[in-house]
Amino acid sequence: MEETYDVQLEHQKYIGELGDWQRSHHCCELTSANIGDEICLMGWAQYRRDHGGLIFIDLRDRNGLTQVVFSPEHNIQAHEQAHILRTEYVLAVKGVVRERPEGMHNAGMVTGDIEILVSEWKLLNTSRTPPFAIEDRLDASENLRLKYRYLDLRRPKLARNFILRHKAVQSVRRFLDEQNFLEIETPILTKSTPEGARDFLVPSRVNDGQFYALPQSPQLFKQLLMVAGMERYYQVVRCFRDEDLRADRQPEFTQIDCEMSFVDQEQVMAMAEAMICRLFKETVDVELPSPLPRMTYAEALRDYGLDKPDTRFGLKLQDVTDVVKGSEFKLFGSAELVKGLRVPNGVDMSRKEIDDLTEFVKIYDAKGLAWIKVKAEGEWQSPIVKFFSEEEKQGLAQRLGMQVGDIVFFQAGPAVMVNTALGQLRNELGKRLGLIDPKKFNPLWVTDFPLLEYDAESKRYVALHHPFTAPVGGVEALQADPGKVLSNAYDMVLNGSEIGGGSIRIHTQEMQQAMFQALGIGEEEAREKFGFLLDALEFGAPPHGGIAFGLDRLIMILTGSSSIREVIAFPKTQKATCVMTEAPSAVAAKQLRELHIRLREKKKD
Ligand code: AMO
Ligand code: AMP
Repeated sequence: MEETYDVQLEHQKYIGELGDWQRSHHCCELTSANIGDEICLMGWAQYRRDHGGLIFIDLRDRNGLTQVVFSPEHNIQAHEQAHILRTEYVLAVKGVVRERPEGMHNAGMVTGDIEILVSEWKLLNTSRTPPFAIEDRLDASENLRLKYRYLDLRRPKLARNFILRHKAVQSVRRFLDEQNFLEIETPILTKSTPEGARDFLVPSRVNDGQFYALPQSPQLFKQLLMVAGMERYYQVVRCFRDEDLRADRQPEFTQIDCEMSFVDQEQVMAMAEAMICRLFKETVDVELPSPLPRMTYAEALRDYGLDKPDTRFGLKLQDVTDVVKGSEFKLFGSAELVKGLRVPNGVDMSRKEIDDLTEFVKIYDAKGLAWIKVKAEGEWQSPIVKFFSEEEKQGLAQRLGMQVGDIVFFQAGPAVMVNTALGQLRNELGKRLGLIDPKKFNPLWVTDFPLLEYDAESKRYVALHHPFTAPVGGVEALQADPGKVLSNAYDMVLNGSEIGGGSIRIHTQEMQQAMFQALGIGEEEAREKFGFLLDALEFGAPPHGGIAFGLDRLIMILTGSSSIREVIAFPKTQKATCVMTEAPSAVAAKQLRELHIRLREKKKD
């Protein structure tokens, strides 16, 4: 490292100015049609190879690679100087396009039929030896990649992700502009907008002891823009949520956020669907089915256990609660819900594999995982089968359609746990058993969500979507039986991931107050938190509704990336830190004093 650093310093004396040199082409565009052309390329040296007196460089820019050749016969000085070239040095070359010699063509490369014979070149900058190779195949740790993210982003795969992301946003902007949406910005320093996560807070210097919240979404502002008569709004907007991070979640992420006035649910869905279909066509050239398939929340839970079903493969869940009701096997006989998941040809699954899957479901609060293998006609192998009566066994076989060669997994217990654990197990099996075609895109709408969800911990209802979503049936339905009311909400799901969600909103003050009441939010609390919204609803708010798509998640799926961090230029780690800038970080005592903040002493262990 030290030695190469010295070499690099030594080479700095050769650095030249751009002067009047101008790039004529990019490194992805030259083909045999350009043979004989005089061109000028600029970029980074990917590899240097010395061969029979010639020096070869793969010159890389954002768009691709072109092979350049320094030949002593063509220009002795240019060739001599090329010996200093090292990986990631920045250079400009002028030369002539020529066909590669016989046998040297590279069919895997757009520019694989040609090379540039260099007449003149300039060193524009040197580079330290990068800590990892700038190529798609890479075994560097993610931490190292994130610390040197600007080098990581030079890798063609990441560059392609951002090119596609750009195209997607342009497609959305064109579409929404044609549909008469106005792009309007909303505040980042604001008051809490509840979307179910914790807020990031920003202390106010000029207002002692007071805090702004960063928006979890522009939800309230976009509704106020409807009251303001803007009729159709959109924004490609950063949202902030302090929640536990996962492969598809970041503390700051981007939404394509839309809102429309004088529309019903069908109109919002039709608009969103057209936007997404066009985006797929214009970015990855895929025609999505039109109209998109739909599934109710109840159907999704029944068949897939989750409200974001991955419909790219089968393995539907089966409810067997009634079959084993009252069974002597208490675990099943007295459970709120018992479901089975039949895996055809799974009979050879090893003990170890089953143990792994048992550990897997424990993440979702399951205590264990029961199973039955159908070894032969009438021959079951299972840790639980001894507990069942003949009748129960027959009932299970029939309900589940059990056949020789199958393994069936069971989960029994509270409904939420059973659905979640078995639904997640289904997704895991889809992956492990290779049942998913990675090229497939299966979007669908999930509709008819319940409005409220009972939270056992706080012993009250919470909004499943957010507290501004309109109930089906209005105030009366809500007051009659809050737990049974459905909402005018809809999610778009793609390959098992929720990529967007929205609803028709409450637009009268009476309804909004009834909703706060159902949520156990008192009048005083409602005024303090959302007084401005309640006021606005009294000034002729039009019926309105909208939707927001998670741009990062969408691009993650479109690019086949395994993590959301692959489609965000400067993402945070799982611990919500940035290893490059080292944010978050301590601040000076003076700054804290100005903000009226005193830190608590850290607890000693
Ligand atoms: P919701 O909370 O469903 O709705 O968010 C909309 C979409 O944003 C994406 N998303 C995320 N992406 C990455 N990291 C996160 N932490 C994260 N959280 C959410 C998801 C999700 O579908 N105001 C409402 C929309 C509306 O009603 O119009 C809202 O924010 O893809
Ligand atoms: P036990 O009676 O605890 O030995 O459990 C018998 C079998 O049931 C074991 O295979 C456990 O993994 C499994 N099991 C435990 N809890 C559950 C549950 N909630 N649902 C389904 N199977 C379970």
